[in-house]
Amino acid sequence: MMNVSTKILRRAVARSTFSRPWSSISKATSLVDRSQVEGPHGKYQEEYDLSRRDPEAFWGNAAKSIEWFREPSVILEQDSQDINNYRWFPDGIVNTCYNCLDVHVKNGRGNQLALVYDSPITGNTKISFTYSELLEQVATFAGVLRDELGVEQGDRVVIYMPMIPEAVIAMLACARIGAVHSVVFGGFAAKELATRITDCDPKVIISASAGVEPKRIVPYKPLLDKALELAQHNVQHTVIVQRPNVKADCPMGPKDREYQTLMGAAQPADAVPLPANHMHYILTTSGTTGKPKGVVRDTAGWAVALKWSMGAFYDTNPGEVFWAASDIGWVVGHAYIVYAPLLNGCTTILYEGKPVGTPDAGAFWRVIEEYGAKTLFTAPTAFRAMKQADPNAEMAQQYDLSSLKNLFLAGEHSDPDTLHWCERALDKYNVPAVDHWWQTELGWPGVGNSVGLGRMPIKYGACSAPVPGFELAIADDQGNILPHNTLGDMILKLPLPPGSLTTLYGDHDRFIKSYLTKYPGYYDSGDAVYVDDDGYIHIMGRNDDVINTAGHRLSTGSMEEILMDHSEVADCAVVAAKDELKGQIPVGFVIVNAGSEMDHETLKQELVQRVRNELGPVAAFKKVAVVKALPKTRSGKTLRGTMSKIADGEEYKVTPTIEDPTVLEYLEPIIQELMGRKSN
Ligand code: COA
Ligand code: AMP
Repeated sequence: MMNVSTKILRRAVARSTFSRPWSSISKATSLVDRSQVEGPHGKYQEEYDLSRRDPEAFWGNAAKSIEWFREPSVILEQDSQDINNYRWFPDGIVNTCYNCLDVHVKNGRGNQLALVYDSPITGNTKISFTYSELLEQVATFAGVLRDELGVEQGDRVVIYMPMIPEAVIAMLACARIGAVHSVVFGGFAAKELATRITDCDPKVIISASAGVEPKRIVPYKPLLDKALELAQHNVQHTVIVQRPNVKADCPMGPKDREYQTLMGAAQPADAVPLPANHMHYILTTSGTTGKPKGVVRDTAGWAVALKWSMGAFYDTNPGEVFWAASDIGWVVGHAYIVYAPLLNGCTTILYEGKPVGTPDAGAFWRVIEEYGAKTLFTAPTAFRAMKQADPNAEMAQQYDLSSLKNLFLAGEHSDPDTLHWCERALDKYNVPAVDHWWQTELGWPGVGNSVGLGRMPIKYGACSAPVPGFELAIADDQGNILPHNTLGDMILKLPLPPGSLTTLYGDHDRFIKSYLTKYPGYYDSGDAVYVDDDGYIHIMGRNDDVINTAGHRLSTGSMEEILMDHSEVADCAVVAAKDELKGQIPVGFVIVNAGSEMDHETLKQELVQRVRNELGPVAAFKKVAVVKALPKTRSGKTLRGTMSKIADGEEYKVTPTIEDPTVLEYLEPIIQELMGRKSN
């Protein structure tokens, strides 16, 4: 058990504005003393220190690895009055798509595989593209966007697509002409899609006839049409990829254009020179309220950071095969399915399938063997699913996995059991399972074992050390910096390295308020963390109402909004509960209106269906109870954390500010039953 000490170092976080606040590493805030970490960490310490002592030298050097139309003469521009206001490479001119494709073709990689599409879910479909072929497709679709659909630099384009090559082509084509993509995960329902459409006001939406899930086809077009009905928008065209091998209802309207027809008639477009701080993309993520946050990423900073991370963090070289088993709708997919491997001249794998059931728990091992993947990056939930189906990891023994050198896990806590199972599966090959931490906001890893700089010894349950560029501290609510073994908020010192978010789309005030106000001079990650005596960082979970279901970040607040919308519901709470497969699942509690006569079973079914229809099936919202009361503090705050603890079967303390302690006694057996446990 962790010793959560109440002893605090009374050292306030810097609050003043100064011209070069980040010019030296503050010993007191640099809690993670990596000299205590034994083992061959090679160049890590040196690189880390340089990244904080002289970020301009560090990132200026990293920036040389990409091609610029105009090299930046300034590496980091800061506002001497406002610590929150800084820009990386402000006068550089660059194009990320050019760096992903044209550069490699120019430098002799034209015949190397750039993208491999492997789709066991549609019956072993396999298609691959060399760098030359992918460039041709991307340039042609960029021509479609520019000439046929009138998309100009800065226009937004929503991409709502399954995991098919056209999705990758569409993203890169946007980047080629400076259009700003906003990719929406295919598992979101029409209302969530509508929110994102309203939020970014796209000129064009690119979609497909259908997605494919293990037990069903998901027709996207009706969802898209419904979303367009619900959204406020000025969409001029929707482009639909008709999937040849998937039969789905796909009604075409006057605004709809067929991808294949458009491609047949288009002229290729060149990559346009873009200012370094041009908005590359918007990616909407869950916040504490139902209103999602449109994270904005810039162009050059992200390209430089991603390129650097491929070697220094993921230890993957040009020409090697990198596989991120995620979805293009998540930040991991943006960064490590699409952009980073291509920036680095690697082969990337686009996998349309599941870790189990397509057809079995050997699917991941097959892909590694078939394409010779050196690096696999996925969410722990994928391995938990494989572990459930194949407890002794026997399927791994049926494949030659000798190409695999590192396994990276992120997105949620990696439990030691699952890591041991991975170790057992890969025993013959001595492949380490490396846990690392990041967020949509940061765009690339913030804490982890920077394997490319020399791997530190692995400690299960911990995420090693900050990645060069990120300086972290642990603080309490008052901004006091906390010592080792004390749980607090993880805060990251400004400036964040290149690639981190620059604002929230259309809501800069919310950006400042959400991330930069509570701890002046620092970014507030929203995660509760402690550092152990060896300097290893332990991520313990969120401080807010965000939960992680099968590696998907979701807001319980948005589920509560959906429940509250039901005419029979007077009050509700959605809390996180531990789940063996998905890490966490949401569990709902509703109080019905006085006098309501609705049958409770029917109500529960309706509520489950509503969350499914409005948020999407990925929410995995299946457990809900009708209750007479919710535990509240005297100021009216629902004690969600306490309910979570009961759901997890953990001990809990009754806060002295609780309005009525008997409510917890009343709820306990209901929660136990809901979680499938017998109450004592
Ligand atoms: N489009 C439409 N529906 C989707 C979808 C998509 N792109 N992705 C998921 N869904 C649906 C599923 O069909 C399922 O629906 P159901 O309730 O009708 O069965 C629901 O959303 C939940 O899906 P999922 O989260 O995939 O759970 P699962 O129980 O089907 O599978 C795992 C469990 C562990 C196999 C699966 O969650 C998984 O592969 N996880 C990896 C997660 C990941 O890559 N995360 C990215 C972060 S790095
Ligand atoms: P997302 O923005 O979807 O990538 O989700 C980010 C959140 O996922 C973080 O704030 C953490 O709460 C959680 N998370 C990501 N990686 C890890 C990890 N390695 N261990 C524990 N939690 C993680």
